[in-house]
Amino acid sequence: MTEDDNPWLRVKAWIAQHPELERWLRFVSPAFLYSALDERLAFDEALRQALHKRIPGFARRRTLCLGGAALVLFVNQVVTGVLLAVYYKPSTEAALASLRFVEQQAALGFLIRQMHAWGGSLMILFVLLHMARVFFNKAYRHPRELTWVSGTLLLLVALAFGFTGYLLPWDQTAFWGTLAITDLIGKAPLVGNLLLTLICGGRQVSELTISRFFALHCLVLPWVMVPLLAAHFAIIRRLGISQPM
Ligand code: HEM
Repeated sequence: MTEDDNPWLRVKAWIAQHPELERWLRFVSPAFLYSALDERLAFDEALRQALHKRIPGFARRRTLCLGGAALVLFVNQVVTGVLLAVYYKPSTEAALASLRFVEQQAALGFLIRQMHAWGGSLMILFVLLHMARVFFNKAYRHPRELTWVSGTLLLLVALAFGFTGYLLPWDQTAFWGTLAITDLIGKAPLVGNLLLTLICGGRQVSELTISRFFALHCLVLPWVMVPLLAAHFAIIRRLGISQPM
């Protein structure tokens, strides 16, 4: 291809005629910055050590992708959740209207809300499928007990995400659905009342409940989930994937 048909080659030739400009462009180019940083901090080597690990051939089985799929869905929840939080208002009066605004007027709002709603359910489905795969492979046995325990905690946190997120639209389904579960919590022996007051801010599902659920959903649970995921993966990496039965 000659310079005449390719405008990029023409731009490159023109830059080459201006050595000062060429030197400056090299200086600000990401490749230059990367190699300068890598020379000092040895990124490449750290990445190579972190990412290059031989995995056994059986790890290519489809059922071994279920945990990874749950992780991808969690990342989807974080990205779409942050975008929804830009417009969402956690109050009984404004919550539903703010989500209607997202659906009807915000750019790609409909898609983002649906991705978050479906992503939440799919994530729990994939976590359960992954758990079933681990169970039927007997991969919970020694020495992987801690992987199983950290996974169980992850399942509880995923369910807590679902429970707290369910109320946030503050429509009829959200209100009555949450009431059914908080009623059950209130009936727990000994600690029922205390739990109900802590979670709902009183004995009723109210304005206080929606702000508590919002704080749990967006501020507390992500900080519980991320270290648990890190622990889950660190243990898996240390022990390797178990042999299929
Ligand atoms: C958000 C939730 C979870 C994520 C993102 C996740 C992710 C993963 C990934 C990527 C793997 C390696 C590949 C695979 O086996 O699929 C894995 C392995 C494992 N997970 Fe999970 N997991 C989650 C929840 C759970 C749950 C609920 C349990 C069980 C209670 C569990 C127990 C295990 C065990 C025992 C292994 C090792 C399997 C083996 O060595 O064959 N995980 N997890």
